Amino acid sequence: MLLFRERVPADWLPKILSDLPAVLVDHAHLERKAATTALNLEKYRDLYPRVPELNAIAIEELQHFQLVLDLLKRRGIAFSQPYPSPWISGLMKSIRNGQRHQVIDHLICCSLIEGRSCEKFQILARELRSIDGALAEFYASLVESEGNHYATYLLMARAIDDTEADRRLDFYLELDARLIRGPNPLPMLH
Ligand SMILES: [Fe+2]
Ligand SMILES: [Fe+2]
Repeated sequence: MLLFRERVPADWLPKILSDLPAVLVDHAHLERKAATTALNLEKYRDLYPRVPELNAIAIEELQHFQLVLDLLKRRGIAFSQPYPSPWISGLMKSIRNGQRHQVIDHLICCSLIEGRSCEKFQILARELRSIDGALAEFYASLVESEGNHYATYLLMARAIDDTEADRRLDFYLELDARLIRGPNPLPMLH
């Protein structure tokens, strides 16, 4: 049920496979940021009734973060600094001000980030099978959870204002399609 209008660029997978240790460090930061993002969404008045669900997502993301850290340790990869993703910051830069506008835009951005993670983890689960079976299984084990986060954030935006959420989803899907074609030479998931 992913709605994306542009495929993951063909040069993404070879770039990822060229430096899996760096990708795993980037992935650890992605899960860490996903946990803090779920908590940040709790600042919006429209989401006060959803705080228990957001806490559950934050806990799940924190568990994912720990799983990636465990993987780094087992593989002798040092946890190191994060790099900014032009795709993520491009989406985030378009979040409008104003309580209602902001919460809807923020939820849709989060939904698309979760959705792209879900899609890319599926690709990795398939493509890593013959290269690194354990890592392929790890990515396969995360697909359902990230897919649920994608759907939950989208439904939260629609529950606030159906029409506005769909209008902004259309805007963000176009922006995603444009940004995902942009260059990012670093071995990053996004
Ligand atoms: Fe996650
Ligand atoms: Fe997630």
